[in-house]
Amino acid sequence: MSNNSIEHIAWREGKLHLLDQRLLPHKIAFKVCESHRDVVTAIKEMYVRGAPAIGISAAFGIVLAAGEALSKSFSSGKTRELLKTASSDLEGSRPTAVNLKWATSKAKSWLSDNIEASTEEIYTGLEMLARDIFADDISNNRKIGFNGLKLVPQNAAILTHCNAGALATGGYGTALGVIRAAVEEGKKVSVFVDETRPLLQGARITAFELIEEGIPATLITDNSAGYIMSAGKVDLIVVGADRIAANGDAANKIGTYSLAVLAKYHGIPFYVAAPLSTIDLSISSGAEVVIEERSENEITFIGGNSIAPEGIKALNYAFDITPAELITAIITENGVIEKPDKVKIADIFTKGDTFLEKHTD
Ligand code: MRU
Repeated sequence: MSNNSIEHIAWREGKLHLLDQRLLPHKIAFKVCESHRDVVTAIKEMYVRGAPAIGISAAFGIVLAAGEALSKSFSSGKTRELLKTASSDLEGSRPTAVNLKWATSKAKSWLSDNIEASTEEIYTGLEMLARDIFADDISNNRKIGFNGLKLVPQNAAILTHCNAGALATGGYGTALGVIRAAVEEGKKVSVFVDETRPLLQGARITAFELIEEGIPATLITDNSAGYIMSAGKVDLIVVGADRIAANGDAANKIGTYSLAVLAKYHGIPFYVAAPLSTIDLSISSGAEVVIEERSENEITFIGGNSIAPEGIKALNYAFDITPAELITAIITENGVIEKPDKVKIADIFTKGDTFLEKHTD
């Protein structure tokens, strides 16, 4: 894995090994997925999480379904039926991140481009596709990092929310990719890590990644971010995204919107770092994003212990929408979209990749 010592997603001998991120940082254990149904469970129960990481897992989930068809000697027609069911099960495993649908639609296009393929050829073709999706994600994250590092001043204090790091992606990370790239460039930075209630992806996972790499980091409670900004301690904010609408509105971990409002008030740049696979041109604005609502228990219990009186209701939205007008720029592998809007977002897809050019100067 890129920039983390743990191979958090690994495809070995026809099985998908996923790091159980629910146990971090204190326990390193893996879930071995042998069927697409195991992958659906791993995504739903958040063994694996982060938009690009669940997209990659879904791509391998489809391969597992093709493997099941192969082991049962299914005809190619029956294999295609099973793959259709597997795709819709995987797409339905979490509703907000577009990367799940993005990955299954890649598999669907492969199938329609290879209409004569046998079950064996389907398995091999989809396996190659999933490996490519995985490798491309890491390389796109490096490009996002490279494109974003110019936005990070020397000695910057950066605030981030949730985990948009190596573990949320194929490797390297999006928001943390920008931070990593700045550090690799020799910039001295420090990071404020929002703990990110209720599942504590910041405290458990982002802090873990930053400590592993020796990047100076300070953990804060989510509700102290405003005070810390008002005290002039934050130079910029960078977060990831689960889905970006055609107009630039961005869905990300609950609490992101409040940070963006605070950033606007305090005149602090607010950046969203995400690959093009996170942009969903089929929806015109964030209002069309389905926001996942998770169990009340995630709020009323911490580490298995009840923290609220029995009978209290809890409302547990997992994501929120930050309107494009609050976003200073979206950092993608194809470049930085400043003051994002519909035209600039559509345009970024037509931009070539300038990364290699810049690296061979
Ligand atoms: O509920 P999670 O942990 O899957 O939420 C993850 C986030 O909100 C990330 O910021 C987002 O997926 C981007 S990861 C590069």
